[in-house]
Amino acid sequence: MLKDKHIILGISGGIAAYKSVVLLRQLVKAGAEVQVVMTPNAREFIQPVTLSSLSQKPVVTEFFSANTGEWHSHVALGEWADAMIVAPATASTIAKMACGVADNMLVTTYLSARCPVFIAPAMDLDMMAHPTTTRNLATLAGDGVHIIEPETGELASGLTGRGRMEEPEKIAAVLDAFFAAEGSLAGKKVLITAGPTYERIDPVRFIGNFSTGKMGYAIAEEAASRGADVTLVSGPTALSVTSPRIRRVDVESARQMLEAAETAFADADIAIMSAAVADYAPRVVAEKKIKREKSDLDSIELVKNPDIAATLGARKRDGQILVGFALETDHAMANGREKLARKNLDMIVVNSLADKGAGFGTDTNKISIIAAGHETPAEYPLKDKKAVAADILDYVETLCRP
Ligand code: C5P
Repeated sequence: MLKDKHIILGISGGIAAYKSVVLLRQLVKAGAEVQVVMTPNAREFIQPVTLSSLSQKPVVTEFFSANTGEWHSHVALGEWADAMIVAPATASTIAKMACGVADNMLVTTYLSARCPVFIAPAMDLDMMAHPTTTRNLATLAGDGVHIIEPETGELASGLTGRGRMEEPEKIAAVLDAFFAAEGSLAGKKVLITAGPTYERIDPVRFIGNFSTGKMGYAIAEEAASRGADVTLVSGPTALSVTSPRIRRVDVESARQMLEAAETAFADADIAIMSAAVADYAPRVVAEKKIKREKSDLDSIELVKNPDIAATLGARKRDGQILVGFALETDHAMANGREKLARKNLDMIVVNSLADKGAGFGTDTNKISIIAAGHETPAEYPLKDKKAVAADILDYVETLCRP
């Protein structure tokens, strides 16, 4: 959710400022663009160069740049930001923010910020418990500032009490959850199957296919970036997920995929079946490697695998949306329509192996979408799989609306 978000990280002068380095690193890693604004006191605790190296932007502390005389516009910064987080927020900075004392760049930026503002207080326990701090925090909360409560524990003074700044991971998670709640799929549970399945013949051999999982993983990341809670049931792939909103369940065979998908489908709002499930599995799996020299094996007896999409389609509840894929070599649209009906899908994404750049392994795809009850399919040009994932979810969202 933090990807491409513009975030102002305000750092005031407290010992917890060392944790701001880790917070900055996490925000940047999550794809955010971060502008650090420090109070003059904060520079006593941490070197601006550390922060500018990590954020790839000069740190702003003063109203004017000493060397160039350049004016740093707090107004422009305030307009640029999608969120501002002050961490650590000292008692003094909290007091200035509450009263509008604009005597440094951080507080001035706060006063110009139109975006949501978060603060992570950090101070000694007596300062934290002081009625002045309590009053100032109540004022800020009343002004709509989100307060990330400090923890109770050992403090830099050696005393134990309430005033430890929340851990950077948790602060990043609060920001992530905030943006997620604003996403178009916020609150939706999305199940996605992806990748191939492997059907074991013996301990070293399997029946599989060329699916890499790229399409399903792209849909999972896109759904997560729109605020959905995603369960990604994945066959064996070389891919990894980046969003913390994706819970990945690794499976190998079609039967394992069915089991995991059935469990997640129970409370899913949307299920997208992008896996290339093997149609057949060997009836028996040899316990030991089948020896080529000794074996008279010239055929393997196969049994049909369960159809996961059709199984879920048969037990679909009102309001659940089930999406399938049809990868075809010929008569793509006719076959797509037939699968849409037979598997009780709400929508099917058709792609044809006849189209250059579509199908397995590529970074691009060319799709058509057929929705139940819609005569005309939606046709899309060749795009990278990330853009295709966005098209698919845009269409799904139109089906979610009453
Ligand atoms: O019948 P076909 O394999 O072409 O159907 C493709 C669609 O059905 C895809 O959405 C695929 O994920 C799903 N499917 C499934 N279980 C199977 C076979 C296909 O979920 N055993």
